Amino acid sequence: MIHRRTALLLLFICFPPALATEALALKPVAARHGLVVSSESHASEAGVEIMQAGGNAVDAAVAVGFALAVTHPYAGNLGGGGFMLISLARGEAKLVDYREEAPGAASRNMYLDSKGDPVPQASVVGALSVGVPGTVAGLALAEEKYGRLGLSRVMEPAIRLAEDGFSVSYWLSESVKDARELLERFDESRRVFLRGGKLYEPGEVFKQPELGKTLRLIAQNGPDAFYQGRTAEALAGTMAKYHGIITTSDLMHYHAKVRQPLVGHFRGYTIVTAPPPSSGGVALVEMLNILEPLDLGAPDSFHSIHLITEAMRRAYADRASYLGDADFVRIPVAGLTSARYAADLRRQILAGKADQPTQAGNPASYESSQTTHYSVVDAEGNAVSNTYTLNGGYGSGITVEGAGFLLNNEMDDFAAKPGSPNMFGLVQGEANSVAPRKRPLSSMTPTVVLQEDSGQVRSRGSFDRGETDNRVPEETAGQTKPDPKAPEVAGTRESPLPRVRLVLGSPGGGTIINTVLQVLLNVLVFKMDVQQGVDAPRFHNQWLPDTLLLEDRGFSGDTLGMLKAAGYKLTVRGSIGECQAIEINPETGWRFGAADPRGDGEAAGY
Ligand code: DON
Repeated sequence: MIHRRTALLLLFICFPPALATEALALKPVAARHGLVVSSESHASEAGVEIMQAGGNAVDAAVAVGFALAVTHPYAGNLGGGGFMLISLARGEAKLVDYREEAPGAASRNMYLDSKGDPVPQASVVGALSVGVPGTVAGLALAEEKYGRLGLSRVMEPAIRLAEDGFSVSYWLSESVKDARELLERFDESRRVFLRGGKLYEPGEVFKQPELGKTLRLIAQNGPDAFYQGRTAEALAGTMAKYHGIITTSDLMHYHAKVRQPLVGHFRGYTIVTAPPPSSGGVALVEMLNILEPLDLGAPDSFHSIHLITEAMRRAYADRASYLGDADFVRIPVAGLTSARYAADLRRQILAGKADQPTQAGNPASYESSQTTHYSVVDAEGNAVSNTYTLNGGYGSGITVEGAGFLLNNEMDDFAAKPGSPNMFGLVQGEANSVAPRKRPLSSMTPTVVLQEDSGQVRSRGSFDRGETDNRVPEETAGQTKPDPKAPEVAGTRESPLPRVRLVLGSPGGGTIINTVLQVLLNVLVFKMDVQQGVDAPRFHNQWLPDTLLLEDRGFSGDTLGMLKAAGYKLTVRGSIGECQAIEINPETGWRFGAADPRGDGEAAGY
């Protein structure tokens, strides 16, 4: 197995240290056959183990998902949800939507006080913040439909890691310390993750017998062992203890959904990405459409940052107004992703027209990387791009008693009060208000980029229910409206199989979509290799608050000065997102994996 640490050691032996580290910082991990990039080394290695045992990329991705639930508890999970994008070498792409769902007793105003104001933290901490978890249903469905080895085999590494334990890394011990205040509030979290107050030090072995038992039950009996019986009763019991509303019937009711991915096109590449209930794909395709014909100049120059920021601003304004769970609200996906609509928006930018934000957001609440993304490719050319989360680090803070896993606080991704910002400062509209069984709007953007063959049929804006247009909400914040007559065409159906070029995604709440956009542009437009593309400094604008957020390293003083002079309100912060990406060289077929240096991840391959 090849991974970053082995490569580091070899180079260290062969070259003087200064030279070795400098060269390494710029090199992705190369693999001939299969490759996994995730936020945690044991999990990446679990994926490679499964591929070497004959599994495909989906088997490996399911193994990584379960392993991260053990070794990366602040975002890896059984008690959360996410999106798995699967691109099969036979020319088919599917998205497994295992986003959490509002419980049956949820209601539109459940987070508001008697004056109609949001109750602080009600959707963020504790039992009311928890959505019905989707991860186990999603991973099991992916394995059943697209895997080869079966759940019990692919879960072996996770069970081993839970039962035998693993050595706690410096970063895991730090992250538990940082979350101490949250975890201390709940008995089982205090016992499992804080060891009753005697926190795990780096190098100590962390064993999770209750989680091991839960995993074994799922491996033996399938997802019903989570959504029914002992585990479901433990979950509902823990909810009741903390005055939550999730019941065993909510768990029985939960199903992961297979959707058609959203498809866009950009400069000779097919972009396959997440449809609603994520906003990620729609906003990504909208931004790429706006940028398609523009000369972006040099990366990190005033010119490129200005154009990309203006595209971001418009896509996020649309996100706020139009997007939600398409099984509940009609969304004009075809219009938002149409080339004609993008051309109108582009004209505004080129005319130098300033946006007029109408409401203040909450810049203080930008969050770091508490979700987790991983990318997998196998020797046959199948690819998986998976982003899943508990939402905040360690989610709601609640661990299910006797079952060893944390529960999400995904209900905060709904608009607790349309027009008021959530914990990521995202302002969202009526389309994303709370309703029973509805899925909260996400920004997760698992994406696969395919190389288009010449002469291939181009198609835009696919959407699984095949709807051509949807109702446009009344409040449009004075924007150009997406074209309701834009053609609606299913993407991959018409196309000969293009080759996988890039697999990527990121955590980062509202910043996710912009991280994916920039890494994609870095590789496809600015011609960086995948590691350079992942490492390059990032920026972010989400319409409201009207702030341009920039990482605090990598941007020159001159560029910042020009941005300020152009009227941008700049905010500088440590890091944005944690992209785990794979690039395939279209000529040689070699796979290159880039773990984001902003995290503690690992690319591992063979
Ligand atoms: O689905 C979403 O968009 C959020 N729940 C993702 C949360 C996240 O990325 C947390 N990390 N900052």
